[in-house]
Amino acid sequence: MRSQAPIVALLAATSLVSATHLTDSLLNKVYNVMNEINVASWENGTKSMAILESKYPELTVFSANSPFQRLDGLQSGQIPEIIGIASTTLENRPATNTSASAHGGSSLLEDGAAADPASLGIAVLLADQTTNNQQVNGVGYGDAADAELNYLLYDVPRTSTGAISHRADQPQLWSDFVYMVPPFLAYYGALRNNQTLLQEAYRQCSLYRDGLRQSNGLWAHILLGNGTHDPNLWITGNAWAATGMLRVWSTIKWSSFASDMSSQMSDLQSWIAEIFDNAQPLLTSEGLYHNYLNDNSSFIDTSGSALMAATGLRISTLNLTDSYVPDSLKLLAAVSSYVNSTGYLTQTVNPYDFSKQGTYSPEGQSFVVMAYAAYKEWDSLGRKGSTSGNDDPLGTSSSAFKRIGGVSTLLGLGSALLGFWSIA
Ligand SMILES: *[C@@H]1O[C@H](CO)[C@@H](O)[C@H](O)[C@H]1NC(C)=O
Ligand SMILES: *[C@@H]1O[C@H](CO)[C@@H](O)[C@H](O)[C@H]1NC(C)=O
Ligand SMILES: *[C@@H]1O[C@H](CO)[C@@H](O)[C@H](O)[C@H]1NC(C)=O
Ligand SMILES: *[C@@H]1O[C@H](CO)[C@@H](O)[C@H](O)[C@H]1NC(C)=O
Ligand SMILES: *[C@@H]1O[C@H](CO)[C@@H](O)[C@H](O)[C@H]1NC(C)=O
Ligand SMILES: *[C@@H]1O[C@H](CO)[C@@H](O)[C@H](O)[C@H]1NC(C)=O
Ligand SMILES: *[C@@H]1O[C@H](CO)[C@@H](O)[C@H](O)[C@H]1NC(C)=O
Repeated sequence: MRSQAPIVALLAATSLVSATHLTDSLLNKVYNVMNEINVASWENGTKSMAILESKYPELTVFSANSPFQRLDGLQSGQIPEIIGIASTTLENRPATNTSASAHGGSSLLEDGAAADPASLGIAVLLADQTTNNQQVNGVGYGDAADAELNYLLYDVPRTSTGAISHRADQPQLWSDFVYMVPPFLAYYGALRNNQTLLQEAYRQCSLYRDGLRQSNGLWAHILLGNGTHDPNLWITGNAWAATGMLRVWSTIKWSSFASDMSSQMSDLQSWIAEIFDNAQPLLTSEGLYHNYLNDNSSFIDTSGSALMAATGLRISTLNLTDSYVPDSLKLLAAVSSYVNSTGYLTQTVNPYDFSKQGTYSPEGQSFVVMAYAAYKEWDSLGRKGSTSGNDDPLGTSSSAFKRIGGVSTLLGLGSALLGFWSIA
């Protein structure tokens, strides 16, 4: 489809002009596809965060103001999609087996991954908050959240360093964990004024970094144990880790313990920067990342690239630094050029077989929604750090048109011709 022949490339690039900044109508299609195709626990959890970030931005920890102060008096009818996801989760939840755990621990969902169901924990806590522990399938939202917390703290196997395993059957570190679990622990701690849990969220990030970070500052995907193994620098895994740590950072910031935990916040900030700074030189000329960051022979993955764009822009809106804005805009413009007319993100990794290219990605749909939510917030805050003089930073000056060496010159000619044609 993407021919190297300059003329065909020129035509392809020209036909993508309007697609680099998704129209609201195409973004709606992306959102609708997201709603339809997410099925696994972590996909539903990620989707719940994408919905919060795009439809209820004042309620996310990425907000410019404390989301916790907005919860008083919030009604379940004001966040119906979030309640819907929490309710589905409780409908699918296994009946609590109280003798299974001395501490009353019980996973929200049956899953070989101990960590993934925790990604739904914030949605469940919001349902508890707005319904006063209403029961679904015989268990209250708050009680289910408590059981999930206790499961993570007391039942899941740990590594020798104290890292909570990503997997239920044996201690294994997966970079994905950092998005699934620490943000839930931190959110629970902030909501219930429990500093121990905020500290545990921070500590788990630290332990995962110790276990997965390689000498070039980027993170391996899966280490330890005898299960699935992947020592490669998976772009989505690095994005999961950076985004999870940013969620923990901002949750601490909006908690009542921010002033007590400034050193933890500055550690998290530098660990996030470490991933972004070391990924930056590996951005391709097209403005995307390879599935395995440092391996030019691995395919280009738009899904992990979209999450990097979202988080790079959030780092700016949260006033940490604007350094990653130019690359995030390049990423988002290029990612957008791979959204097809039915609203699917294409050129994605297969999320169920992460070394292989797939044809679509449920989590990738959520990442695009998150990236546009971040872009809108960044835009509304005055586009800090933009180096583009263009009216539309994702528009025609974007990197999507520098995809193949030499084509941008041709494109200039193409645009001139198009301009001529439109005048004629
Ligand atoms: C995820 O959400 C979908 C759509 O609502 C639902 O069909 C599915 O059962 C959910 N998955 C889990 C593991 O709860
Ligand atoms: C970022 O800085 C602006 C301007 O100083 C301020 O209004 C805003 O509240 C800050 N945002 C955060 C998340 O601290
Ligand atoms: C409850 O969990 C315990 C310990 O894992 C197990 O031995 C027992 O069979 C379970 N009971 C039921 C009814 O599932
Ligand atoms: C993998 O390790 C676990 C302990 O962590 C052990 O119970 C299991 O038997 C091992 N499986 C194989 C195939 O070696
Ligand atoms: C914080 O949460 C932990 C884990 O549930 C619990 O053991 C501890 O008592 C809580 N601390 C406070 C002050 O509530
Ligand atoms: C791989 O890509 C990087 C970054 O674009 C480039 O510097 C390097 O030369 C490439 N290596 C190979 C073997 O193509
Ligand atoms: C868009 O991509 C999806 C997933 O690969 C595919 O099913 C659909 O047919 C594509 N739409 C178009 C118009 O090509």
